[in-house]
Amino acid sequence: MAQEDLFKKIVSHCKEYGFVFPSSEIYDGLGAVYDYGPYGVELKNNIRKYWWDSMTLLHENVVGIDSAVFMHPSIWKASGHVDAFNDPLIDNKDSKKRYRADILIEEYLAKIDGKIQKEIEKAAKRYGDVFNETEYRATNPRVSELQAKRRETHTRFTQALNASNLEELRQIIVDAEILCPLSGTGNWTEVRQFNLMFSTEMGSTSQGAMRVYLRPETAQGIFVNFLNVQKTGRMKIPFGIAQTGKAFRNEIVARQFIFRMREFEQMEMQFFVRPGEEMEWFTRWKSLRMAWHKAMGLGPDKYRYHDHEKLAHYANAATDIEFEMPFGFKEVEGIHSRGDFDLRQHEKYSGKKMQYFDPESGQSYTPCVVETSIGLDRVFLSLIAGAYAEETLGQGETRVVLKLPPALAPVQLAVFPLVKKDGLPGKAEEIRNRLRFDFRCLYDEKDSIGKRYRRQDAIGTPYCITIDHETLNDDRVTIRFRDTMEQERVSVENLPGIIAEKVSLKNLLKKIND
Ligand code: GAP
Repeated sequence: MAQEDLFKKIVSHCKEYGFVFPSSEIYDGLGAVYDYGPYGVELKNNIRKYWWDSMTLLHENVVGIDSAVFMHPSIWKASGHVDAFNDPLIDNKDSKKRYRADILIEEYLAKIDGKIQKEIEKAAKRYGDVFNETEYRATNPRVSELQAKRRETHTRFTQALNASNLEELRQIIVDAEILCPLSGTGNWTEVRQFNLMFSTEMGSTSQGAMRVYLRPETAQGIFVNFLNVQKTGRMKIPFGIAQTGKAFRNEIVARQFIFRMREFEQMEMQFFVRPGEEMEWFTRWKSLRMAWHKAMGLGPDKYRYHDHEKLAHYANAATDIEFEMPFGFKEVEGIHSRGDFDLRQHEKYSGKKMQYFDPESGQSYTPCVVETSIGLDRVFLSLIAGAYAEETLGQGETRVVLKLPPALAPVQLAVFPLVKKDGLPGKAEEIRNRLRFDFRCLYDEKDSIGKRYRRQDAIGTPYCITIDHETLNDDRVTIRFRDTMEQERVSVENLPGIIAEKVSLKNLLKKIND
């Protein structure tokens, strides 16, 4: 299936099965804002818990907070977001459509990569076993020409980004003959910076309202509480503070479903370390975070690191963990070494000391910070995209199945009476009532068993049990496994143990703790 088709199917699957709805749908929606439905919210809660437990249970020196969305506006001045949290935008004068200049250039570079790849695949087919890719790249005139063009544009692009040279960004677009996909022309405006923060007013206007921002990252709530947490928790460096919560960005190029939203959820952890030790911790957290992703079992090849060429205004080293979405490898998490930038800035703007007294050395210093910052919605999308499968079964039957990790599935166990009579519904409900305290259970008695299995496959329920006439005599049920579709007869008494062993979050956490 073409990746574009797969993505469309995933989006409509999310809507049809109550995972994600467009926001304000009856009013034709609101751009890049989404609501989570009954199964979506369960999946989201499970991902959040997996992240939270991996931070606060597996690391004695990581504690949590929950800071407010609204914060003093000076925080965003200090953090650099008021002045530097911008996207470079360009308009096409004919279509009046607005684009991110950097994304136009990145897409152009990706197109060249695609062309090079095609040439290589064609040659590999032509030459078979004797094909030598390195030699071909170095000697084939067409590939060399494409590579040279890519290298030149890429070098100009990174230099322009790092120097915030907007004129040069425009010139690259003009020189590369990048056209507007709508009007098909290269009639571009200048490139301008556009701040991504939403703002509103706090207090009544007559008393003088204060302009406040909707936080564009949760991290600042952690920085400004650094000393509160350190002192009240008697934390010793190195230690971390974790937080999950909503963040808001006025994304101009908002697209690809829940990948780039205007309201989204972050899960961030700031790890405070002794100055000089930040690169060691940066490397450690890079591998810990990759292990967290891989433990979900979507396949190790689906992930890769991507080191940043242009660093954010606060970072001195940064890498992304990317997941192979249906639209290519994309950032799901960022790991940044932020130095002591944020604490120093808050010290400067608030006039309050933001230092740590180290009892071991007897000295005070401003700690450095290694941050892990992950988008909950992007993990959600990676899980759905990685778990979605269409399978052909026997006799021309097909099924759509979400092979979600059992510990994260929105429903862990579905309970069915074989038929809606003969006392089977009563027995099924009795069993469900016993299990509902331990697992998220769903009871279903409508339609044939086959149809009920299909419904559960489509939402990723790992286990279904069926209560039949024999159950009334022997207290045994048929358990059916989602991925293999195999069935086994087990005693009701053993059910809690069997299911618990499979759906416990412990299974994921142990994988990353080894
Ligand atoms: N505190 C650092 C920070 O916010 P970031 O790389 O801008 O860094 C971190 O964002 C993560 O937040 C990203 O890796 C991504 O998963 C998520 N994220 C950022 N913007 C997003 C958006 N518009 N929609 C959904 N998720 C987003």
